[in-house]
Formats: sequence, C-alpha cells, structure tokens
Amino acid sequence: MAQDLPSKAAKISTRILKVAEKSLGTFRSGIDQEKLGTWDVSSDQSPSIEILHEAASYLKTQDTPVAFPTETVYGLGADATRSAAVKGIYAAKGRPSDNPLIIHVPDLDMLRGILKPANETNGVSNDAHDRIPAIYKPLIEKFWPGPLTILLQNPEPSRLAPEVTAGLATFGARMPATSLARSLIKLTGAPLAAPSANASTKPSPTTAEHVLDDLDGRIELILDGGPCQVGVESTVVDGLCDPPVVLRPGGVGIDELRTCPGWEKVEKAYRDQSEAGKAAPRAPGMKYKHYSPKARVVLYETTLAGCRDGIHPEDVEAYIRDRATGGANGSAQGKMLQVGVIRTRFWKSAGGLRCSDFKKQETVSGTASAERQDDVELHVQQAELYNTTGESRIGSLLDVGIGQDTRSIAHGLFSALRELDRRGVDIIFVEGTADNEDIGAAVMNRLRKAASQIRS
Ligand code: TXA
Ligand code: MG
Repeated sequence: MAQDLPSKAAKISTRILKVAEKSLGTFRSGIDQEKLGTWDVSSDQSPSIEILHEAASYLKTQDTPVAFPTETVYGLGADATRSAAVKGIYAAKGRPSDNPLIIHVPDLDMLRGILKPANETNGVSNDAHDRIPAIYKPLIEKFWPGPLTILLQNPEPSRLAPEVTAGLATFGARMPATSLARSLIKLTGAPLAAPSANASTKPSPTTAEHVLDDLDGRIELILDGGPCQVGVESTVVDGLCDPPVVLRPGGVGIDELRTCPGWEKVEKAYRDQSEAGKAAPRAPGMKYKHYSPKARVVLYETTLAGCRDGIHPEDVEAYIRDRATGGANGSAQGKMLQVGVIRTRFWKSAGGLRCSDFKKQETVSGTASAERQDDVELHVQQAELYNTTGESRIGSLLDVGIGQDTRSIAHGLFSALRELDRRGVDIIFVEGTADNEDIGAAVMNRLRKAASQIRS
C-alpha cells in the first residue's frame, strides 16, 4: 500500500518559497492591550501572506515539518499539540527523540493558552493571577520577541504533545523576532515545536540554502526569509529555581540577563567540553559530533596568548602524518591537503601559515530577499599552501574572516563552517573568541562541540 511506504522511499520534492519579511502583521495596540499580548496577521492579499496561509494549513494537516526562519537560526517546525507532527521532526532530521524541544509562540495570548490545563474550558478568561511567573516578566519585557527561551511548568493535563517535553515537567518557550515566524504560528493556530533545521550533527542552518543542503527530499516546504541575523540559537534559562540559571548560552548574554530584576545572581548551569575535563586532543572516534562539518575542526582557545599568534605549523604536520597512516580520513590519503582557516580578532590572513599570495577574493552571499540588507557575506580567499621552510607546496588554503566583534562572529560562524565544507576542505583551523558573558559564550560553546581537537 502506497501510504505504508517509508518516507525515504517516497521521495519528497522540496520547495523553497520566498517570503518578504515586510508588512506581515503587527502587535495589537490600544488602551488595555499589553505590548506583546496579541499578534495580528496582516489581512493583505500579498503573495507572502498567501504563502504563509499555505504553509499554515500544511502544518495543521500534515505530519511533515516546515522549515522557517527565526532571528537565530532556521527552525524545523511542527504543530506542538500533535504527536504525529512532532515525530515528523525527528524523522526528517534523522535523530532520536531524546531532547525536549522549544515551542514558539507569536504572542502572550498563545503562551497563556498553553499554560492553562487542557481540561479547563475556555470562556472569558478571568484568572485571578497571571500564569506567566513574575520572575520572567522583566525578561519578556526586555528580550521578547528575541533569542531567549524560558522554562515553564507544563500544566496537567497539557495541550502539548508529550514528545515535545521528552517526559519533563517543564517546557521551553520563546517568541521569535521575525514577523514571518510569528505570522506563520498565528495562522497555524498552535505553537510550533522547532529545533534547528539541520540534519543531525551538522552546523545549524542560517540560510534557506543551508536547510536545502541538509533536508532536500526529506521535507516539502522551506520558507525563505533571508539569512538569520543572530546566527546562534537562543539562550535557554530556568527561572523556576533559585538562583535562576542559564541552561544553554545563546543570543542573549548572561551579562544582559543580569541587568534584570531577580536575575542579578543568575548562574551558568551548562559546561563546555573543554571545561568538563581538558578535552584536547580527543581520540578519533570519540569525537562528540554536534554542529560539525565533515572536515576535522581544530579550535584555538584565543584567551591564551600562545593561540593568538596563529596556527602552529606542527598541527598541520601532525594532521598530514595522521592522514598518511589512515588515522584522519583514510579516503583522502595521497591527495593534496586542503586547509580551511576561520579567523576572528587576532590572526593574520591564513592564520600565519606559509602560503602564496591570495589568488582571489570571493564574496559568498546568503539568499537574502531584496528587502533585507543584513545579508551574510563571507569573504573567502584562496592561496597555495607551503611547508614550513617554504620549499614545497603541500596543498591549498581557504581563508575566511568572520569579523572582530562577537556579534558578527556569531552571525558568520555556522555559515563559514558550512562554506568550507561545501568546498571540500580536510581540516578547518578556527580562531576562537573570548568566552565572556556575552554572545561569545554561545560561539565558544558551539565551537567546542564541533571541534575534534582543542588547542589551549
Ligand atoms: O534559537 C533557537 O532556540 C532555535 C530556533 C529554531 O528557535 N531552536 C532550538 O530548539 O534550538 P531546540 O528544540 O533544538 O532546543 C532544544 C534545547 C534542548 O537541548 C535544551 O537545551 C533546551 O532547549 N530545552 C528545551 N526544553 C527544555 C526543558 N523542558 N528543560 C530543559 N531544557 C530544555
Ligand atoms: Mg540544533
């Protein structure tokens, strides 16, 4: 029977639909309306609104997720109230359903609807108290819509599918900053559970093209709203405990959280690989695969002076030796080496490795819609790579600078990893950044997960 075919066999054709992130809706204002209370979708008949209607009715009726842009990364969204739809996320990503998922809401009305037990009849809401805990009010005021996820008590019985919370008593919620996402959710009429729209283990996607690279043939719809502004996922906080904690660093820095009443003493409750017990170098095969391109990633912890000067030539030599003995990547033996370099603040071009003059400078752009100016721009330069004495050519090198300040580093990070992978490099040397209490903490958290080796 045709409907029993596994989803892989029934090859889906994937469509990218461009949506202009403009005039898609507004927050209702008026005397009694709180600022983020109700999101109204525009009643225009524009092509973008029509696409959102199509995607929303697909989300309501189908069990295959839809990819859509948020300000952090592209999400793979499914109706969070339907188990079959939520299971579809895991099928598309090719990963087991172990982690709880973040749910996305367009406004506080929808969030309050989820906080209300499912057996409570609707009627006029005359709740004596607001179900959104007071501790979160200053955060919502300051950071929503935006890259912050808050943990809330899941009511009993809950409207959310059990697959969303992975058996926990809480759920994570956020209000994304793109009006595209808010209008899509509002039209669906249900919160969307959405992890990043990458294949399992890959870096998170920040353009519609990245999503297509990973999920072509596995999902039907990708909404393209241009490159994501922030570039790393949301910060996840738990304010239900005392003191409140950060569970995942992300787009909102811990320094910014601290400025809010009740959050002055917020603590970090996650650990990066390198802190968990000096991880470098990890044995091949023991590698923690996450946010990883195909190439081997070597991260330099630049808070240490020795790592600021550039790539240690012996790291390149070690890789060449490793490859010759089949340790690194057996299939690449005998080929010329292809090295990728991602620079942030201190490294000179090529990370200081010996190479020829750069041949060309290419700009790689994301697929921004005409309305969007904040296009991802990566400047990729190419040169011939020489050995330390400069006598012989050992391969080629691709150099990408992703900026000096932590916001632009976060913005370009996943894109740079993907671009170097697309060009088939064997190894990527990454200059880290300061692991301060800003978005740099998120950058370093993701890089430490992606790295096979950490130079510190
Ligand atoms: O920026 C983002 O947050 C992106 C975009 C698409 O919005 N979404 C995203 O979602 O990263 P997701 O579902 O992959 O995030 C799941 C992570 C979990 O690994 C965990 O860290 C945290 O969110 N989380 C969610 N629910 C939780 C809960 N009940 N308790 C503890 N952590 C939770
Ligand atoms: Mg992810």
